[in-house]
Amino acid sequence: MKQVIAAIISNSEVLPHVYLMWLECPSISQEARPGQFVMVRCGEETVLRRPLSIHQTGDDRLALLYAVIGKGTQWLAARQPGDEIDVLGPLGNGFTVLPEPQNLLLVAGGIGIAPLYYLADMAVKDGKQVTLLYGTANKDRYPVPAGVTEVASTEDGSVGYRGMITELIPQYLEGADQVFACGPLPMLQNMANMPELKERSVQISLEMRMGCGFGVCYSCTIKTGHGLKQVCKDGPVFELNDIIWEEIRI
Ligand code: FES
Repeated sequence: MKQVIAAIISNSEVLPHVYLMWLECPSISQEARPGQFVMVRCGEETVLRRPLSIHQTGDDRLALLYAVIGKGTQWLAARQPGDEIDVLGPLGNGFTVLPEPQNLLLVAGGIGIAPLYYLADMAVKDGKQVTLLYGTANKDRYPVPAGVTEVASTEDGSVGYRGMITELIPQYLEGADQVFACGPLPMLQNMANMPELKERSVQISLEMRMGCGFGVCYSCTIKTGHGLKQVCKDGPVFELNDIIWEEIRI
């Protein structure tokens, strides 16, 4: 884990209220892997850093894809190229892609595309077959990496299947060697209730409010089948069926 003052290369709105920021950040980008995150200080007035998924890396650069949902991310969205921000990372465990499996099934809901894009891109470059089920509210959708088979759903029916992306999971499970997901908590909880996924390994990335990001404040504690865990240090990637969902506040 490194604390870095990183220069912003670009920061632009790529979808309504969603920004893509590229940072010059070699020490973090060289260590990062899909599923990890960084904690970003968002100005003087915001006490707590914001956890943001690592979205892409390359050429000593690091990308963050983030939704503007509060004071901290509003401050971040107003930063300009050349400004510097204080970044801590890489943090968390990240996804585990086993060497043998060839067919990966990824399920992304909304801004959950941020870490799964990175995972999909790396997996395709490793020669794996990647199917990405990607659900959004409407046609405002982020592009998926080259080489990925995308299956789209929208709640308003403007692109792909009309409905929730989780409804499509059963028909794509056959042939999937590993399953990964990231999205809003209700989506993940919905997956936890699906009989088709009860006996399967499904790696999910949890997006939670965090205080410190590295295991000292206990603000991100959840209950699992293996006891209390801290999302920042033990996660954010967990087995879907190991989480005691009844104890998680949505
Ligand atoms: Fe502080 Fe996890 S955010 S322990």
